[in-house]
Amino acid sequence: MDDAVDLNRKHWDERAAYHPGTDYYDVEGFLDGGTPLPPEAREEFTPDGNLLHLQCHFGLETLAWLREGADEVVGVDSSPVAVEQARDLAKRAGYADRAEFVEADVLDVRLDWTFDAVFVSFGSVYWLPDIGRWAETVAAHLADDGTFYCIELHPVTHSFVEYAGDTATIGWPYFADEGIEYEAEGSYADFDAEFEHTHAVDFPHTMGGIVSALADAGLRIEFLHEFAWCDFQKVPGMTEDDAGRWWADVDHDLPFTMSLGARHG
Ligand SMILES: C[S@@+](CC[C@H](N)C(=O)[O-])C[C@H]1O[C@@H](n2cnc3c(N)ncnc32)[C@H](O)[C@@H]1O
Repeated sequence: MDDAVDLNRKHWDERAAYHPGTDYYDVEGFLDGGTPLPPEAREEFTPDGNLLHLQCHFGLETLAWLREGADEVVGVDSSPVAVEQARDLAKRAGYADRAEFVEADVLDVRLDWTFDAVFVSFGSVYWLPDIGRWAETVAAHLADDGTFYCIELHPVTHSFVEYAGDTATIGWPYFADEGIEYEAEGSYADFDAEFEHTHAVDFPHTMGGIVSALADAGLRIEFLHEFAWCDFQKVPGMTEDDAGRWWADVDHDLPFTMSLGARHG
């Protein structure tokens, strides 16, 4: 397991250095007042008070919540490069006095504060070998009646490699009981990017596993929504809309994104 964590950290260190310069993340657009948050997230979740972002990457979404009502934000990520980039972005955006970034594993971290809101977004839960410990981290940091909001790739998406027309090619198992090692060429933010660390380990979790872990940790689930769009081009043949959402050009709808709202206590 340590090997997988170490492997994945190298994978993310390299991508965290590269991602801020990509069109996908559009950092300049954010500095000019744009938002990386999809419309659905801004409609479904309105933070006030302080917010904790688990697996914050280089802090773009974390900082974006300061423009949506959060007073202060804290981001946690296990990649030292991501945390360094996040602190730098906070300074460039003029938010350094309202944003803090902590290098830690979300499965182990226990900060001294609780939060009015905890946020998790795309590409997070399937890097974690223990979904129960993740849910406990969420619960441990939520104030009484605090809100949890997660917008993430739909777990079923992990079973897709490719589809076109009415043909779907099933890749990974939905009910995986161990990590899956694979070659991760490029990045969702730039498929042509070349990286030294291409090996990674994913830990797929089922929808039931995620929801039940949160309920077991003491959260009250308030909604669970499913969407036909993805936040990147997950499979060939998708087209992007003005809000940066990718839609599959097929006759049938398949779920690419899920959002979950929950309350503590
Ligand atoms: C796909 S990125 C999240 C992207 C984010 N939604 C965004 O677009 O900015 C996944 C992040 O999870 C972090 N990560 C992976 N495993 C972690 C762990 N166990 N603890 C903390 N962070 C972790 C990686 O370093 C990486 O920055």
